Amino acid sequence: MCGIFAYHGHRKNAPELVVEGLKLLEYRGYDSWGIAYKTEKDIEILKRVGKISDFDTKKEKLPEASLAIGHTRWATHGGVNQKNAHPHFTEEKDIVLIHNGIFENYLEIKKYLEKQGHKFKSETDTEVIAHLVEEHMKTHTFEDAIKLATKEIVGRYALVIINKESEKTIGVRKGSPLIVGVGNKEFFIASDIPAFLNYTNKVNYLDDDQMVIIEGNKIKFINTTNNDEIKKRLVEINWKPESAEKGKYPHFMIKEIMEQKETLAKAIEQDPKNIEELAKAIKKAYGTYIVGCGTAGKVGMVGEYLFSKISKKHINFSFGSEFPNYQDFLTEKTLLIAISQSGETADTLEAIEVAKEKGVTIASIVNVESSTMARISDIVIPIKAGPEKAVASTKATTAQLAILTLLAYACDGGVQEGKKLLIDTVSQINDMLNPRYEDYIMKLAKKIKDVESMYIIGRGMNYPIALESAIKLQEVSYIHAEGFAGGELKHGPIALITKGTPVIALVANDDTKSDIISNATEIKSRGGYIIGVSPENHDVFDYWISVPDTGNSSPIVNIIPVQILAYQLAVLRENNPDMPRNLAKSVTVK
Ligand code: F6R
Repeated sequence: MCGIFAYHGHRKNAPELVVEGLKLLEYRGYDSWGIAYKTEKDIEILKRVGKISDFDTKKEKLPEASLAIGHTRWATHGGVNQKNAHPHFTEEKDIVLIHNGIFENYLEIKKYLEKQGHKFKSETDTEVIAHLVEEHMKTHTFEDAIKLATKEIVGRYALVIINKESEKTIGVRKGSPLIVGVGNKEFFIASDIPAFLNYTNKVNYLDDDQMVIIEGNKIKFINTTNNDEIKKRLVEINWKPESAEKGKYPHFMIKEIMEQKETLAKAIEQDPKNIEELAKAIKKAYGTYIVGCGTAGKVGMVGEYLFSKISKKHINFSFGSEFPNYQDFLTEKTLLIAISQSGETADTLEAIEVAKEKGVTIASIVNVESSTMARISDIVIPIKAGPEKAVASTKATTAQLAILTLLAYACDGGVQEGKKLLIDTVSQINDMLNPRYEDYIMKLAKKIKDVESMYIIGRGMNYPIALESAIKLQEVSYIHAEGFAGGELKHGPIALITKGTPVIALVANDDTKSDIISNATEIKSRGGYIIGVSPENHDVFDYWISVPDTGNSSPIVNIIPVQILAYQLAVLRENNPDMPRNLAKSVTVK
């Protein structure tokens, strides 16, 4: 949510470099963008409403500079317009900054600053920080003024700040990611690694309450709570820049859907010690909760079914935002398993904070291994899906499902059985994901592309997959889609079915099969158009999408054709599937 990128070094094309780097972070926010760069005497600012990918640095030449900061925005405070776009600055542009996160007590501080004579141009919380630093600079140095300001700020933030007087670039974080890329006498500060991966793969991670100060060729890290200097380890990242690019595909979403052939295999190639350690913790725990949000939440719900069916274990699921309501049940014997692609989702992080206060053991199943979530967990299972750039999660989803399946088997002493099932699933997905399969789903997409509503039903472990299918369809096709437990339809929602309403029935070859077919039949009798996602065809289906019969990994194979359908509907309806309206990739605000 909001992308930050700054360059401080010897290259003369910092403004262009920052714009191009921000394009690689566009999935974090795309309603407006802006950069600031240092000239000999001043700081110049350029802001635009719209997508940064529409800005062509070949057509619109940017001036030379060796220090630039930039931001691509997902609006929280204040509408989408040029004034509210970052960077924000003080009246004389003495202090200029970019911010990701939310500054909760900004109105209070704004009122105080207005009394001191500060004038504000935007409706944002960010602009207030610039003025707060300026206020402290009446009596303190730039660096100390930032430290003082961060002590007064309540909320989550990653900030990068420059000022007219000094040659310093300062970054500070609390709750939102900020990573420093270290090159040869040059530095990059970004919310995510892909922004600078073309220049360096050596990074320093900033933790909460830490500040990075770059001046000339020098870099230092400070703990803002006690002012101590910190020695940081330089970490080498082994991602290839291409893994964060579209390659031959028109969109990241379809690239990532197709990558599931490889990512699933990587997810199950886990260090067995990781799986055993978490399985042991689950067996030992007195109460285990899985938390996650959105798609990761739906994966967590599948987990409830997997553990119950495979290892006869009762696991509770809660959305991250709802988890604080369960805090009275937490003890030091509780285990919390957080599921997340980004590892930065504010609601999931808050659930972890609530649990930590009660002494709960924290495990995370996470894609971004350098994320806050991974760094604050006692046990980490990396899902190894590689960078996921499309806003709609696809390959991270199936990788998380694979890990949960493996864990459920491991809790029953059957890790090898689970692995065998998943290896077999991967090979069947390899056969399934071919151009003919896509063409076949495209025929359906063309048929239903103009419908107003569609529904998805599933039972057992495919019920959460029906919910996840609805998310996929909603977020990229903008068709009204809702998922239901097959048995629930007749208790109300069946009233929504009229002639031709498309309903996807997710069928698994298990003990839920005959009931879900009955539910599909009930819908068909009311005029519904039944799309069966199933290993076998059935008379009730008007359109059959074949999936392999993979037993307990049916959630993995059943979601893939829906991902493809959602993508194709988005393209047919001329939506950008990689950047759905109103959304951003990682939701770092509550
Ligand atoms: C939907 C989607 C979101 C995320 C949710 C949690 O396709 O991607 O619903 O699943 O915002 O994000 P992470 O997994 O990063 O915690």
